[in-house]
Parts: sequence; C-alpha cells; structure tokens
Amino acid sequence: MIERSHDVIVIGAGPGGYVAAIRAAQLGLDTACIEKEAALGGTCLRVGCIPSKALLESSERYDEARNGLEIHGVKTSGVSLDLAAMMKRKDTIVRQLTQGVGGLLKKNKVTRYVGTGRLDGPGRVAVDGDAPAVLSAKHIIIATGSTVSPLPGVEVDFDRIGTSTEGLAYDTVPEHLIVIGAGAIGLELGSVWHRLGARVTVLEYLDRILPGTDAEIASAAKRSFEKQGLVFQLGVKVTGARFDGSTCVVEREGGEPLTADRVLVAVGRKPYTDGLGLETVAIERDARGRIPIDGHFRTSCAGIYAIGDVVAGPMLAHKAEEEGVACVEHFATGHGHINYEAIPNVVYTHPEVATVGRSEEELVAAGVPFRKGTYPFMANGRAKALAQTEGLVKVLAHAQTDRILGVHIFGPRAGDLIAEAAVAMEYGASSEDLARACHAHPTLSECLKEAALGVHGRTINL
Ligand code: NAI
Repeated sequence: MIERSHDVIVIGAGPGGYVAAIRAAQLGLDTACIEKEAALGGTCLRVGCIPSKALLESSERYDEARNGLEIHGVKTSGVSLDLAAMMKRKDTIVRQLTQGVGGLLKKNKVTRYVGTGRLDGPGRVAVDGDAPAVLSAKHIIIATGSTVSPLPGVEVDFDRIGTSTEGLAYDTVPEHLIVIGAGAIGLELGSVWHRLGARVTVLEYLDRILPGTDAEIASAAKRSFEKQGLVFQLGVKVTGARFDGSTCVVEREGGEPLTADRVLVAVGRKPYTDGLGLETVAIERDARGRIPIDGHFRTSCAGIYAIGDVVAGPMLAHKAEEEGVACVEHFATGHGHINYEAIPNVVYTHPEVATVGRSEEELVAAGVPFRKGTYPFMANGRAKALAQTEGLVKVLAHAQTDRILGVHIFGPRAGDLIAEAAVAMEYGASSEDLARACHAHPTLSECLKEAALGVHGRTINL
C-alpha cells in the first residue's frame, strides 16, 4: 500500500481536473491526479467533444462530396463511405489527444495515480486500483464530471438503445435512428448519422430545440436542419423504449409507438459522484445531485473543492477548465477569476450554433432594456464565396450603456466567430467598441461588426 502526501490532489483527469492539476504544478505545488480510466481526458476527450467533432467533420466531408460541390462547379461520382476508416481516424485522434494529456501531466511533474479516488475523511483520499494508495493533501479538488441521465421506461442496453458513447461507434449506418432529446448531443450525433445515410427522427419534449439557446437563433437552426432532412417531433414525451429482439420500439405519451433500428438517448447528463465517499466528509449533494460550492469552489468541508460538471452551471469542458484554473489560483495565490457571463456555448452542427451571454428572452424576462442588431450571412462576401450563406449574427447591447449583453450566431464557423464576442464581453466592450474595431475583409467576422453596427441602425452593407 502506497502512502503519500501531496499539496494538491485532483480526483478526475477530464478537462477540469487535468487543467487544474497542471495549473497547480505550474504554481509550484506538489500535485497528484487520480483517474480510473486508462485514457486521460475524461468524457470530453474519450467519448464526447473530440470523437464527436472528428465524426462531424468526416461526415460533413462525405456529405459535401456527394451533395455540396456541384455549386462550385465540381462534379463528383462514385463517392462511397468507408465507415470503418472514418471510425479509425476518430479513434486515432482520441488516442493521440488522451496520450497527449499523459505527456502534459508528466512534463509538469504531476504524479498520476491509476484507480478510483475515494474521499476518506477530511484531507485524505484512498485510491482503489491495481496499486492501492492512501494519499493526503491540504487541497483536494473533486473533478469527477458527469454521466448520462437515464430516462424512466427507456431500457438502455448500450447497443441498440444507447447513449452518446454508443452513438459514436455504430458499426453500420442505421436505416432509422430515433434520437430522444434535441439538445447538443442529439443534434450533433443526429446530424452525423443523417449525413452518413440514416433516416433520423428527433423526439423532443419541449416545443422547441436547444432549450436555453436564444429562440430566434434556435428556430433558424431548426429550419435549416429540417431542410437538411432531420425530422423533428416537438412536444413529445417519450415514456418508454425497448429492443424487442429485432426492432426498437419507442413509446410516446398520447401517440402511437415508433420503431427504429437504433435509439440514441440524449436527454442530458447528471453529476457523477458514485462511490466518491462524500459521506466521509459530510458533503451533502443538492436536489440535482450537484456538489454545492461557494464563489471560490469551496465545498462545505474545509480543504475540499469541486469544479466542472459536478457543480452548478453549464456542463461544458471549457467551463470546467476555467473553474479548475480559478480554483487553484485562488487557494494558491488569493486571486482567481471566472466570468460566467462570458462562457461561450457551441453546437457543432452544420451550420454551427454559437452563443455567449444572455438571450433575448432572458433579457426580456429580467426587464433589462436592450437594443438589438442582426446581420445575415447572406449579405457577406466571404459567406457567398464559401457557398454558406445560411444564418445570422445577433448582438444584444444594453439600451443605456451599450455594453454587450449577448451575442448569438447561427452560421458557418459560428464556433470560431464567437471567440471575438467572448473576448469583447470579458473586457466589458460596448457594441460601439465591436463596431469600431477593424475586421479583415473579406471574412465571416465582418458579420459581427455589421451586427454591432446594427445595434444603432448603422449597418453599412445591407
Ligand atoms: P441537453 O440537456 O442539452 O438536451 C436534452 C434534451 O432532451 C432537452 O431538449 C430536453 O428537453 C429533452 N428531453 C428531456 N427529457 C425528454 C423526454 N422524456 N422526451 C423527449 N425529450 C426529452 O442534453 P444533451 O444533449 O444530452 O447533452 C448533455 C450535456 O452535454 C449538456 O450539458 C450539453 O451542453 C453537453 N454537451 C455539449 C456539447 C457542446 O458544447 N457542443 C456537445 C454535447 C454535449
């Protein structure tokens, strides 16, 4: 049995945990990171953001080669799919990146423990694994992430009726895929399999897709996805699903059952704290299973902190990373910063949906006076050249101070474009600031400038 003491122990090596560990090591602290999976990087790198982006990119190429090049005067024929090769490329990217995280921990002299970390009273963590250990530290960071939320009545068999993990690795293209939930996962993986040839039906409980996203942007996205061929059934409560040996049967409240050859359950994720030993340090979880923290990520037990998907806020890799850094910097230096108003959110469909700050509905509900500027990609020269003219940029600014309160984009490369808006908001920019900054021509980013000009009715190119 290994017995060791460190300055900092991080439980979990996802984007929150491994980044926190590296930052702690950079600050000169003797740091350990415990991870139960052989591959580092958490859900994001292993079975989330990275493999899904690899498949989104590949499937987009396939779809473009079949349907999207004629407009450029490029004729293609005989385009065919090698699904195994596509999956292999995805797996290679995942392997490279997860190994890369191992390299980063090593380079920063973070001690890695392979096993399941379990709190064992204040200041102590037991590692259950091939090489059991009992560790102690002044600072312990819980970064154990999240897991898929189950849906009552839906019998997930992790094969025909599966989660995003299975949805990233089907060995054949389903004839009909039913996706339950029109959130980020449902739309991204639904898009992948639709492009690869599946008929895709998305069942959503609410009367809209992408809950929480600015409604004007979400409805523009929905129209576009429908045009692509995704079928949405909104206001549908799924009450059950099972695989009867040959077909998946999905039950809907007040409707006939639907059948499909595969079902993807994407109705959200929940904090993962199973077997973590929270009871040994008297940490109580809230009604949604999250670990309550204060403004500096401190739990109710002194010396124990929590970040990322196990705490409140959006379940996003970059939010977890920022929290990891802010948490460590705060206990190590007394200063740590995170601005929850400027955390971008991207859905990597085609076109992409990207938002930062508050939606128009949120501003209305909060009674905040605002002005709005919009600009369509249709009017942008670069978008025309790309033959990707769908969508718009929307800038919302305070009616009196002109401070930017939200930026919402549906359109080509929206996920990259939103970075400018996040930086602007981080620095408290006004729409006037954004509008006066010089933007290279011809680029898609000019749409942001034009939308910002639009806040005061001064759009030039429309
Ligand atoms: P989500 O919470 O984004 O969406 C789930 C959807 O399922 C909601 O629209 C909800 O109304 C619907 N739903 C719930 N119960 C239902 C029922 N019984 N019948 C029909 N519909 C039902 O969850 P999702 O897409 O599973 O993603 C999980 C987490 O991972 C989210 O926090 C998401 O932000 C994150 N994520 C982020 C990505 C990104 O940033 N690009 C990509 C993938 C996931």
